[in-house]
Amino acid sequence: MKIISTGSAAPELAVTNEMFSRVLDTSDEWIFTRTGIRSRRISTGDTALSMAARAAENAIAAAGIDRAEIGLVVCASVTNEYLTPSLACLLQRDLGLPESILAFDVNAACSGFIYALGIAQQLIPAGKYALLLGSEHLSRVTDYSDRSTCVLFGDGSGAVIAEKSDAPFHFVSGARGDSGVLYIGASPPSPNPFAPPPESSPSKLLHMDGQGVFRFAVEVMVKSVREVASRAGKALGEITHFVCHQANSRIIENAATRLGVPLERFFMNIETRGNTSAASVPIALDELNATGGLRRGDSVILAGFGGGLTYGAIYLEW
Ligand code: UT7
Repeated sequence: MKIISTGSAAPELAVTNEMFSRVLDTSDEWIFTRTGIRSRRISTGDTALSMAARAAENAIAAAGIDRAEIGLVVCASVTNEYLTPSLACLLQRDLGLPESILAFDVNAACSGFIYALGIAQQLIPAGKYALLLGSEHLSRVTDYSDRSTCVLFGDGSGAVIAEKSDAPFHFVSGARGDSGVLYIGASPPSPNPFAPPPESSPSKLLHMDGQGVFRFAVEVMVKSVREVASRAGKALGEITHFVCHQANSRIIENAATRLGVPLERFFMNIETRGNTSAASVPIALDELNATGGLRRGDSVILAGFGGGLTYGAIYLEW
């Protein structure tokens, strides 16, 4: 599979650290030194679907393709307003995509876009295009009374158009089931006259043990990047760009040091985007692409980690 175009979308409102410091016991200094974040985009009306539709339109326009030739839509998200229909199905409707299509969502939190690409590579029909997205409306599940998480997350969407190709493409993935370190609860069950009421339900807002995720993130990023490079038969020194999940600049710096790769080869936009979960890798890819950073033939490693717990990495050639 080969990516032929990128696109992204985000809400207008940029919420700065200083704006948080007016409503929370926090500071720009704490947030920036611990995370690398200065501001993040927050929805004032956008949804995961509305942002996904704009990102998809951008990617379709950049590819210059006929949307009737899209045969696969995979959307990674944990913040769709509906359990069903999926974002991918709603995009089929809103973008006017053909009905003879395979359209579904992937729930792998911040690794979601990496999982979506890995799955798409197996499913993309010959002669058709795939529309692959990460889209998150995290502000709808953020606990704005928890200063250790609410300052981290932003909203946005990233999309790519891909086509079937013999170009090198390698995918590694992992999962380590854990509902304690990072979770977002579902709606409580409706009262059921045939079953006792549940003793408790997880909170519908995002909960995270930051240090637990930090340790996991560095460990699996280093492991999955090494593994995918080895599957591609490449030394890390031959990789032009590393585009990783933007959760914390210190995670990326730590992983770069352990991998022995200069930090300049790790793209970072966390300063202005915050953590947009499944959307972060495609948004980063689009920003790198839009600024002329990607050239045909470049060796690229994408890597993600997050809730599930999940992780994954992809090697591809641009
Ligand atoms: O995409 C999903 C994956 N998520 C991640 O990868 C997140 C990974 N984890 C992290 O990025 C970091 O663990 C955090 C940024 C979330 C937290 O940084 P930390 O260096 O691990 O801080 P901490 O949780 O150990 O907290 C240190 C102190 C605490 O105060 P005390 O107990 O030492 O007095 C916190 O209460 O910092 C305090 N603190 C804050 N202070 C000011 C926590 N949040 C804030 C805040 N402003 N926003």
